[in-house]
Amino acid sequence: MLQSMEKIPSLFWVSLFLLSSSFSVSLDYSVITPRESLKDGDTLSSSDNVFQLGFFSFDQEEQPQHRFLGLWYKQPFAVVWVANRNNPLYGTSGFLNLSSRGDLKLFDGEHRALWSSSSSKASKTAKNPYLKINCTGNLLLSDEDEVLSWQSFDDPMNTILAGMKLGKNFKTQKEWSLTSWKTMKDPSTGEFTLSLDTRGFPQLILKKKGDPSYSYRLGSWNGLSFTGAPAMGRENSLFDYKFTSSEQEVNYSWTPRRQLVSRLVLNNTGKLQRFIQSKQHQWILANTAPEDECDYYSICGAYAVCGINSKNTASCSCLQGFKPKSGRQWNISRGADGCVHETPTNCGKKDIFVRFPGMKLPDTSWSWYDSRNKMTLEDCRIKCSSNCSCTAYANTDIREGGKGCLLWFGDLVDMREYSSFGQDVYIRMGFAKKEFKGREKVGMVVGSVMSIAVVLVAVFACCRKRILKRYRGENWRKGIEEEELDLPILDIKMISIATDDFSHVNFLGRGGFGPVYKGRLEDGQEIAVKTLSACSGQGVEEFKNEVKLIAKLQHRNLVRLLGCCIQCEERMLIYEYMPNKSLDFFIFDERRSKELDWEKRMNIINGIARGLLYLHQDSRLRIIHRDLKAGNVLLDADMNPKISDFGLAKSFGGDQSESSTKRVVGTYGYMPPEYAIDGHFSVKSDVFSFGVLVLEIITGKTNRGFHHADHDLNLLGHVWKLWIEDREIEVPEENLLKETCNVSEILRCIHVALLCVQQKPEDRPNMASVVLMFGSDGSLPHPKQPGFFTNRNVPDVSSSLSLRSVNEVSITMLQGR
Ligand SMILES: *[C@@H]1O[C@H](CO)[C@@H](O)[C@H](O)[C@H]1NC(C)=O
Ligand SMILES: *[C@@H]1O[C@H](CO)[C@@H](O)[C@H](O)[C@H]1NC(C)=O
Ligand SMILES: *[C@@H]1O[C@H](CO)[C@@H](O)[C@H](O)[C@H]1NC(C)=O
Ligand SMILES: *[C@@H]1O[C@H](CO)[C@@H](O)[C@H](O)[C@H]1NC(C)=O
Ligand SMILES: *[C@@H]1O[C@H](CO)[C@@H](O)[C@H](O)[C@H]1NC(C)=O
Ligand SMILES: *[C@@H]1O[C@H](CO)[C@@H](O)[C@H](O)[C@H]1NC(C)=O
Repeated sequence: MLQSMEKIPSLFWVSLFLLSSSFSVSLDYSVITPRESLKDGDTLSSSDNVFQLGFFSFDQEEQPQHRFLGLWYKQPFAVVWVANRNNPLYGTSGFLNLSSRGDLKLFDGEHRALWSSSSSKASKTAKNPYLKINCTGNLLLSDEDEVLSWQSFDDPMNTILAGMKLGKNFKTQKEWSLTSWKTMKDPSTGEFTLSLDTRGFPQLILKKKGDPSYSYRLGSWNGLSFTGAPAMGRENSLFDYKFTSSEQEVNYSWTPRRQLVSRLVLNNTGKLQRFIQSKQHQWILANTAPEDECDYYSICGAYAVCGINSKNTASCSCLQGFKPKSGRQWNISRGADGCVHETPTNCGKKDIFVRFPGMKLPDTSWSWYDSRNKMTLEDCRIKCSSNCSCTAYANTDIREGGKGCLLWFGDLVDMREYSSFGQDVYIRMGFAKKEFKGREKVGMVVGSVMSIAVVLVAVFACCRKRILKRYRGENWRKGIEEEELDLPILDIKMISIATDDFSHVNFLGRGGFGPVYKGRLEDGQEIAVKTLSACSGQGVEEFKNEVKLIAKLQHRNLVRLLGCCIQCEERMLIYEYMPNKSLDFFIFDERRSKELDWEKRMNIINGIARGLLYLHQDSRLRIIHRDLKAGNVLLDADMNPKISDFGLAKSFGGDQSESSTKRVVGTYGYMPPEYAIDGHFSVKSDVFSFGVLVLEIITGKTNRGFHHADHDLNLLGHVWKLWIEDREIEVPEENLLKETCNVSEILRCIHVALLCVQQKPEDRPNMASVVLMFGSDGSLPHPKQPGFFTNRNVPDVSSSLSLRSVNEVSITMLQGR
């Protein structure tokens, strides 16, 4: 792509020696002074050798090729700034001169100036000027008194690097904005710009040239992020964002919080792309904006909100208390009609303000704001209600419980609703006779997570009735139900037929207490039959336990028990069949793990979290699983996770939530220290196992079997080491980083997992918090050191191991105390 120039190390004597000859030698400078000029082929490098200035061209058809003077990341190559974007050179005769007055000029072979630094800003005489590249990628024109006369950071192209700013200076009228390239291989001025609009309360807007109705409003700054750009500013462990607004200047910039190399690019199709450099020196696309159709400006019109429905398309609806302006429904289009008040406002007399939480704030082009950020929400309400044309108000800054005042005049456009982002806006409404209930969505968000499981229970309870109906009167009969177990009993003959008389062809493997067979019922339903072999005295307790517990559980992330068979010599449990086996089958297998991209893995992590939450909190019983591991997470045809194997689970009644046992059962690598050592278990033991499992899903490595050339830590120790060295970007399996566009989500998962595996149970979050952490963007606490992060910490109990199965390492450990 780039035609690379042969380079010879910068050896000054070489250049002296060859100066008068016809040979051309390429030089690599670290500083350029008025004595030198940078010829095509020469380069200027930053002291750390990360950035380079020089001439480049793209692989293009035309001859002679367009050449540009640019600044780029050397490895991997990425252009970040171009001097002559609209004035390309033809051929390789270009050179860059620095005059002794401190002017930087780019000439072509005929000594015509194609670009000059003074064209950007008035120059003044400099003393012994020099040109160099700062480690931040800033090309600096400075002098011996360190007076900066020009810098490339003041002339942004399509890329914003750490420390660069977007904004406007009101005194000098200077603006810092991004402009896209024309095409991927043509850096000349393209169609899209990203700039801060300072007409009202400052907001960041991405616009398309020649199409005024097309834009994406990242929106105003709320102290933490831009109101309409969750991916571009929200608080996370990766970047610090800074937004400053004063009478002189408004500006926005970011810096990486950890040792990350990153660039933000406005690409030629109008998308913002955040790239992060991986340890393999590749640019990984971390996120993009706009994210979906709802991000585009006001596609639903005034007083409407845009939402993404289950079919992944945008749909419009009116805010509560508003009705469509024309007709009942309307099509998505820019400049759509939108909605009007159901009850017209009445200029203060009987108007009320209703809170709409979780919103992207409306367009602030026609707004007023309290520039000192001092007013309270109540001051703000009073100010708004005293002016008839004020339609809404909000805090300018949502930090510290909210402060500052922002008022809107005129219709409110370009809003959207977020489930875990956005902020409160108070909208003026006419007072209606019927009581108007403002939506308390903040409360609802939390509530709804908790209630998902409850709803599911209800749904499955219905399904369950259907299953019962279906089989009653056929081969199933109601038996155990009378013993309060509410479980269909299946006839042994039916199971024999279904499994072809327990043929070895149908043998699936060995479960917690005996062989497992695949079967197919007469109606085609596939089942898995877990048997407790009669000859083995072991496992009877586990079997009973499993029947007792799982019969009472219904959740889409728990494996579903269809029935059982106890009349026979061999006791059996009949489950729905899971065609994709278990999670360990995928994540620890080099080939099969490729089938699990990040989206699928996140879905699996979320599913396991919800399943556990249900066990811990929302089911009729409170249950601690005690043996959560990759092998006990089954996958259905759509790769949805189902927690299985309740042989070791414990249920609790009432408020009890922890206990101790002398019989430590579980699987090493997944057991928290307080349990493995003292036999003390609680819901937090499952949280620990869950944390281990999440790290295994992200890394594709087992905790216990983990090996690393540099140390003898287990997986937890390895991740912890990288974490404290700010190298968590190196944690995920390589494939994941290559294909995903959500690096920050992966890193957030690592963070949550580390919180789950902390040494002390009381430091670990409960599953309800974990589910919330996955679903929101809020900042997370710093994790403390994990429990069992070295292999050596595990007590040697091999003498008392009793393997529960051949391939698994579940153990039952009897502790003599
Ligand atoms: C550029 O600088 C070189 C010496 O470094 C000088 O010989 C040449 O005349 C300069 N060209 C222009 C156009 O200023
Ligand atoms: C140059 O880089 C250093 C850090 O490497 C930074 O602190 C400084 O502000 C930069 N100077 C300019 C003018 O960009
Ligand atoms: C941003 O503007 C403020 C004044 O509002 C100024 O003090 C600050 O230096 C500016 N930031 C940058 C990176 O120039
Ligand atoms: C621009 O970015 C979007 C979003 O990441 C991407 O789909 C598209 O391919 C990019 N366009 C180009 C030309 O790189
Ligand atoms: C929406 O668009 C569809 C197809 O373009 C059209 O048939 C329908 O009448 C439109 N509805 C309204 C309310 O404009
Ligand atoms: C209400 O606010 C608008 C916009 O700021 C302003 O033009 C108008 O004078 C105000 N009216 C009153 C009565 O204060």
